[in-house]
Formats: sequence, structure tokens, C-alpha cells
Amino acid sequence: MPGAKPYYITTPIYYVNDDPHIGHAYTTLACDVLARFKRLDGYDVRFLTGTDEHGQKVEKAAEKAGVDPQSFTDRVSGNFRALAKAWGFTNDDFIRTTEERHVRAAQALWTTLVERGEIYLDTYAGWYAVRDEAFYGESELRDGPAGKKIAPSGAEVEWVEEPSYFFRLSAWQDRLLKLYEDNPDFIAPQSRRNEVMSFVRGGLQDLSVSRTSFSWGIPVPGDEKHVMYVWLDALTNYITAVGYPDIASADYTKLWPADLHMVGKDILRFHAVYWPAFLMGAGLEPPKRVFAHGWWTNEGQKISKSLGNVIDPYDLVRRYGLDQVRYFMLREVPFGNDGDFSHRSMVQRMNSELANDYGNLVQRVLSMIARNCSGLVPEPGPLTGEDEELLGAVADLLPKLRTIMDAQLFHEALEAVWVVVRAANGYVDRQAPWTLRKTDEPRMRTVLYVLAETIRNLALYTLPVMPTASDAILDQVGVDQEQRSFAAVGQGGRLVPGAALPKPAGVFPRFVEEADAGA
Ligand code: ME8
Ligand code: MG
Repeated sequence: MPGAKPYYITTPIYYVNDDPHIGHAYTTLACDVLARFKRLDGYDVRFLTGTDEHGQKVEKAAEKAGVDPQSFTDRVSGNFRALAKAWGFTNDDFIRTTEERHVRAAQALWTTLVERGEIYLDTYAGWYAVRDEAFYGESELRDGPAGKKIAPSGAEVEWVEEPSYFFRLSAWQDRLLKLYEDNPDFIAPQSRRNEVMSFVRGGLQDLSVSRTSFSWGIPVPGDEKHVMYVWLDALTNYITAVGYPDIASADYTKLWPADLHMVGKDILRFHAVYWPAFLMGAGLEPPKRVFAHGWWTNEGQKISKSLGNVIDPYDLVRRYGLDQVRYFMLREVPFGNDGDFSHRSMVQRMNSELANDYGNLVQRVLSMIARNCSGLVPEPGPLTGEDEELLGAVADLLPKLRTIMDAQLFHEALEAVWVVVRAANGYVDRQAPWTLRKTDEPRMRTVLYVLAETIRNLALYTLPVMPTASDAILDQVGVDQEQRSFAAVGQGGRLVPGAALPKPAGVFPRFVEEADAGA
């Protein structure tokens, strides 16, 4: 796609101390849907995900598993790649921080920061939580059981005292605030932006960026007793993947700054405060936007290993179907808010919105065409106001969806599409093509043509969220592969009357509870 506008989107790189769960799948799903949407809209997309493999937490997990850290990370990283496959993710790259390209980039960034006077050597004495791989101030902590101190995240902290390099974060307060003020869309949602701004207004302390008490990390250039702080190492992945330190490369010039870093709310501070400071400190541009989404709970409970309620992303897909799960996760929760996974609401949406609303629309229209138009795209006659209204509504969705998707409001995008799904069902009921079959066959053909066109457009819009079902619908209305893009919305790709259609088959099964199925 020469000349196409670039779009660079990233997920966090996940720690390999644990197997992937529903939360990881969620973040990557959101990015996958945006990547697919932008590709359909003609953008030259780069979609990056990967694994964060260094640091004390991973070192400890490997030790516990009784293997060396590299074999351990090779294995768990593979699980994240397998998940991407199982969920239909279309990432263009998968980065691992143990890769040579990344070690080289992280060391180059370090050297640049040293050369620019942003890093100095001192001693760190303070609290550290291995679980969060984060430092905490005394005032942030509360007392926990057995004399332990606890971070706001709930993680236990330990006292650390060791020689350490520091990044001059304190000097970046004003420039960070200016970045947020000049770029009101840099942090989303708005409430999170406010939190970050008040944190930065409260003053910043220099950040410890190296450790000497363990060795599983990227060696500090010129002082190899130290390994780089895992967050400085990890954040650099976003520029490694576009060719840093070669900032004259075609990839870097085209793709940096990234259009969007998608993260969970737990790691917003690292992305919206530390990362832009590191980049500006190195004379590089900060990303364009960071979106922090909310947290999933399971049937109202915090998801945790100790509670034994971790949702296995594979089980979920086996149980409900991939498209159904993808739809549910993005429809159920206003993106940015916390959300709860429950079997009941999953089944509810699957049966009412997918099977009844969308599935039934497609099913009844296509089977009427199969039965009454010899399985050919019907020839329309003159269009009435109501016909034009429905076709207009579905074509007008595209500019609306562009705006909504650029704000990452997936739930609103799906709701906007469903407004038209419901309008189309209302149109079917009012036009009653089954009655027209007896009274006015030419009018019946017009109505069915309008509906087939509406379905074609709707399926283009649902491709990013439900690729398999939408492709199946597009197959059934006879749309060629080359016509599966937003350039074909509305007049761009009208169905050709007389074209033969394959035999229709339902694409959105109802979920039947086992108890009901047995009865
Ligand atoms: O933080 N609900 O990795 P991580 C929603 N390696 N999202 C969830 C979730 C939940 N219950 N649980 C996890 C790290 N996530 C670092 C990132 S980036 C340079 C380094 C998602 O394996 C969410 O996106 O702990 C969260 O931010 C991320 O997983 C944390 O993954
Ligand atoms: Mg985490």
C-alpha cells in the first residue's frame, strides 16, 4: 500500500512469570480490533505485541519452576504467541525483550541518556515491590500482616539498598505538564488524564533505573555489575520494533511516534510519565496517545491465582465461540471502565444481540432470497423514502465509526451498528416481504435487495470485532475478497443483481444451557 497513512499501535509486553489470562487477551483484542479497522480503512498498519522477559519477578518465577530464566521465558513467551493465534490476533510483529535487536536498542537508549546528562550514579535506599517491579515512597505504604509493608496495589514491598543509576525525572515535571496541556488527547480516558496530571503536579523524584542485587536483565553499558531497571528495558520495546537506534530507517521515520499505546490502568504511570520523560530525555518524540482501559473481575470477584478464579482464555472460546467472546468483551464494558465477566451476561448478549438481532436479520433475509429469488441477488425497482433511509443510515455509519474508533469507544461503535441492525429488522417487519410475495413481487425484490445491501455493509463493519462470522456473512451475500474493505461501503461496492448466492447457513448459534439441552 504505497502512500497509505501509517498507523502504529502497541499492546503492553506481558510478563512471562505467568500464563496468559483473560486480562492479557482483552488488551490485545482491543488493539486487534483497531488494527483491523484501520486496515479496512486503508491504513498501513503496524500492530505490535510481545513479552517482557527480564527482571527479578521473572527470575524468581524461573527459579521456582526449577529452570534457567532463558528456557523459562522461551516456554511462557510461546504461550503468549499461541494465545494470539487462538484469538485470531493479527499482530504484525511479536517482540521479546531477550532478543538481540532489543538488547541493542535498550543499551543505545541508555547510552544516549547518559551522554545527555539524564542519568547519574548514586545509591538507592527505599521500598521495592517485586510483583509490580516498582519503587514506592514511605508515605504510599500501609502496614500489612506480620510487620510487612504493603503498596497501594496490594503488593508486599521490601527494603532495598544498593548502588544505582538514577534518571533525572524530577527535572521533567514542567515539560511533562506542558506535554499533557498541549496535547489534551495524549492520555485517555479523561479521568485518567486528570489523575496523571495531579500526580505530576505533586512533584517527581529521580527514578532508580538500575539494579545490582540480581543479574537477569540487560547489562548497563560500561558498568556491567548493573542491569537496567526492567521498566526502562521494557518500555524501549516500542521503539526497538521500529528500528531504533537507527532513527533514519524507513520504519522509524514512518512509524514513530506511535499512534497509540494501549495499556491497563495499572501501568498508566509508566507509560504516561516515565516513558515520555525517557524519550524526551533522549531527544526523541513521545507517543501520540496512551489509553488506559479498566479491569475485569470474574462473577464480581477480583481475578487471582490464589482465589482460583483465573479465566482461561482458551476455555472461554471453546465454550462460547471466538467471535462471541470478542463481541462480548468489547460490548459489555464502556471501554475504559472496569467490567465484570459473568456467564449470565455472556449468554444474554450472545442470544439476544447476536442470535436474535443480527443473526436473525441475516438468516431471514438470505433464506427469503434463496426461496423466492432463485438464490440470485434480486433486481431492485425504484427506491422509496424508507429504502433510501435505511441505505443512508448504514452508509452514514462509516464516518461515525471512524470518529468513535479514534476515541477507542468500542462499546459505542457496536451500539451504533446495532441501531442499524434493529432499524433493518424494523424495516423487514414493516415491509413484510412474505406478504409482498403474494401481492407485489417486484416490490418484494426491491425490499430484499435493500436488505441484502444493508447486510453487506453491516458485515463490513463487524469484520474487525467478529472476523469469522462477518466473513461468512460476506460469503453468503457473494462479496469478493477485494471488496471487503471500507472503500466498498455504500455505493462503493453495491451488490450486482442477478449474481448467484451460495446456500445460506446460520452464523450466530444460540447458547443452550446444558440443563435445557437435556430436557
Ligand atoms: O505490566 N483486566 O505486564 P503484565 C484487564 N510487563 N486487563 C488486565 C487484567 C485484568 N484483570 N490483568 C492484566 C506488565 N491485564 C509489564 C508491561 S509494557 C512496556 C510492560 C492486562 O503481564 C492489562 O493490559 O502484568 C495490564 O496493563 C497488563 O495486562 C499487565 O500485564
Ligand atoms: Mg501485572
